[in-house]
This record gives sequence, C-alpha cells and structure tokens, in this order.
Amino acid sequence: MGHSITDQFNRPLRDLRISVIDRCNFRCPYCMPDEQFSHTYQFLDKDQWLTFEEIFRLVRIFVSLGVEKVRLTGGEPLLRPHMDELVKNLSMIEGIKDLALTTNGSLLGGYAVQLKKAGLKRLTISLDSLDPQVFKTLSGAKGRVEQILDGIKVAEAVGFKQMKINAVIQRGVNDHTVLDLVRFFRGSGHTLRFIEYMDVGNQNHWDLTQVVPSREIIAKIHKIYPLESIGGTEGGGTSQRYRFIDGQEEIGFISSVSQPFCGTCNRLRLSADGKMYTCLFATQGTDLREHLRNGASDDFLAHLIRVVWMKREDRYSELRSQIHQTHRPMHKVEMYQIGG
Ligand code: GTP
Ligand code: 5AD
Ligand code: SF4
Ligand code: SF4
Repeated sequence: MGHSITDQFNRPLRDLRISVIDRCNFRCPYCMPDEQFSHTYQFLDKDQWLTFEEIFRLVRIFVSLGVEKVRLTGGEPLLRPHMDELVKNLSMIEGIKDLALTTNGSLLGGYAVQLKKAGLKRLTISLDSLDPQVFKTLSGAKGRVEQILDGIKVAEAVGFKQMKINAVIQRGVNDHTVLDLVRFFRGSGHTLRFIEYMDVGNQNHWDLTQVVPSREIIAKIHKIYPLESIGGTEGGGTSQRYRFIDGQEEIGFISSVSQPFCGTCNRLRLSADGKMYTCLFATQGTDLREHLRNGASDDFLAHLIRVVWMKREDRYSELRSQIHQTHRPMHKVEMYQIGG
C-alpha cells in the first residue's frame, strides 16, 4: 500500500482509531464522572460528527499513507446510529487488514449480528470486574455485569472469535477482583487484558498510588495459574502477551505507566468531529473536517496528514514522570473524545 511515512522517531503510521461519537451510556468515574457529565453537558451535535461519507473518504486517504488497522471507538460507538453501514463501507476498502471495534458491551447483544454481517473482524469489550457491586460503581451505576456477559454470548454465537476483554485496574477499587476475571475467561477462547490505570484526560484525579503495576498482577495470577511470556509490544501492539502454561488462552497486560511502549507507537486517532490526534495524551488536534467541508482535494488532505505525522514527536508515557514533576497543568484531550 502507498508510501509509508515515518515520524521524528522513525515510527510508521499503521493504526487508525476512529471515535464515531463522544457520548456514552456509562459514566465510568475514571472517564466521564457523573457529576461533570450530567444532562446539561454539551456533547457534540450530530452535525458536528463526521458523516460516514467523510470518514470513508479520510480512511481511504489514511490507507494510502500506510494505515492497515482501523479501530472504531467512542464514547460508546454503538450509540452512533447505523454503525453497520459504516463497517460495511470500511470493510470494502482494499488495504485494511484489520477492522475492529471497542465497546462497553451494553448494547452488543442487539448489534452483534449486523456487525458481523457487515464485515467487522474483531471485537474488544471493556469489563472491569465481574463483581456486581464493583461493576456498578465502575460504570457509574449505568451497567450490569449480566448485560455485558449476554452481549459477549451473542457475539460468540454469531461468530466473533478470540474477543479481547479489557479490564482497567485501579488499586483499592477493583484489584481484588482480578482473579475472578482470570478464572472466568480462562477456557473461554477470549483474551483477557489488564490495563494499568492511566492519566488520560483531565477529569479523573489520577495519581500514581492508584496504579497497580502489571508485574504485580502477573505475580498474583502466576501463583494460581502459571503463566509464560510469549511476546511484547515490538510489533507495535500495546500489550505484553502471556499464555497459561496449562491451557490455550492468551492473557495480556497493557503497562503504559510502568513500561511505556511509545517507541513502537504507530497509532493515530481521529475524534468524532474530525480532529486528528497524534497521541492519546495530546493537547491539540488537527482539524480535518474544516478542510473536508471547504472542498479540499484528496491530495491536499494527504499532504496535511503527512506533514503532521512527519513532525510527530509524541512520547507522553515515556516522559510522564518528568511532565508530572513540572506541575504545569496540561489540558489533554479526553478519553471519550478519542476512545482510548
Ligand atoms: P489490538 O491489540 O490490536 O486488539 O488493539 P489495541 O491494544 O490497540 O486496542 P484496544 O483498544 O483494546 O486498546 C486497549 C487499551 O490500551 C486502550 O483502551 C488504551 O487504554 C490503551 N492504549 C491503546 N493504545 C494506546 C497508546 O497508544 N498509548 C497508550 N498509552 N495506551 C494505549
Ligand atoms: N486508564 C486506562 N484505561 C482507560 N480506559 C478508559 N479510561 C482509562 C484510563 N484512565 C479504557 C476503557 C476501555 C478502553 C477504551 O479504555 O475502560 O477499556
Ligand atoms: Fe463510556 Fe468507555 Fe468512558 Fe466508560 S470508559 S464512560 S464505557 S467511554
Ligand atoms: Fe503512543 Fe502517546 Fe501512547 Fe506513547 S503515550 S504509546 S506516543 S499514544
């Protein structure tokens, strides 16, 4: 595909993560705390969203610049009407090797069939705990564990295989429920992944004491279910991969705080309103929608994207401790705007 472009640290552009909506039906305290996102909060209006045609056009341009993987996110992407249409269109673009969607799973039961038919290849489902009370807290009292597990079952039934189950772990909140998740998903055919709690956005009052380093979780699991390492983040992935010595399943750890993986980061993010961000912790995006709606040509858009990527020098996670020491407030993009 096309000409590969590289940034200031020689990282190619490969992975595009598209947020299709900034709304969510959950209020996870670490992402959209209820007190700040009440019914008066101003989310984007529909006419501010990129249309499916606009997304399709941009994705073709991104693919010509080296993108091979596309992931749809939100907010909660299944709140965007007619997602299957978008999936169908994107699945027809030549050069996309992987088309995935990250969801909180609450609406999955109702959409899994049409997503599968439309050509979605992979699903990632967020599920931070199986404990009903803990889950209630972590979804801002908006979700039930059973509803997510039902969604997963329906997705299995329509043919989604080896789904990824993401659990963000916070010390004192859900770290005591880690082994339950392991027990449940071992033997399920899906890949459970534990994510270190990160300082994304500006709302979650993050501090280092709430982070449980992956090595601690690995040790805890290893004692009961022995693990062996099967690879790291070399290929541009985010997780350190392990397998259970006595089984088939893989299990992963995303250690962006204790072991940053910026060195291989090939990800670009697009917000629902068409801003392009070169890092999960970016303070500023590049508005593509404005150009799309002012009649810019494909060549112009490709040039703009190329210039932004070539200038890219983000490595926030590697600089995190230094940045925190300066105590200079930084206004970062929010998780629900770019979907993680
Ligand atoms: P696959 O492994 O291909 O399924 O994709 P992925 O790991 O990119 O996808 P996923 O959306 O499941 O990402 C899991 C989580 O890892 C995200 O929700 C973020 O919390 C975190 N993450 C993903 N990409 C980055 C990144 O570039 N930087 C940091 N710091 N964290 C990331
Ligand atoms: N740290 C780590 N992961 C987070 N996610 C949302 N906020 C954070 C955070 N502060 C996760 C969600 C979901 C994925 C999209 O990102 O739980 O699994
Ligand atoms: Fe919604 Fe995901 Fe944010 Fe939770 S983390 S509020 S499910 S977008
Ligand atoms: Fe990539 Fe930024 Fe995450 Fe580092 S912190 S891996 S540069 S998105």
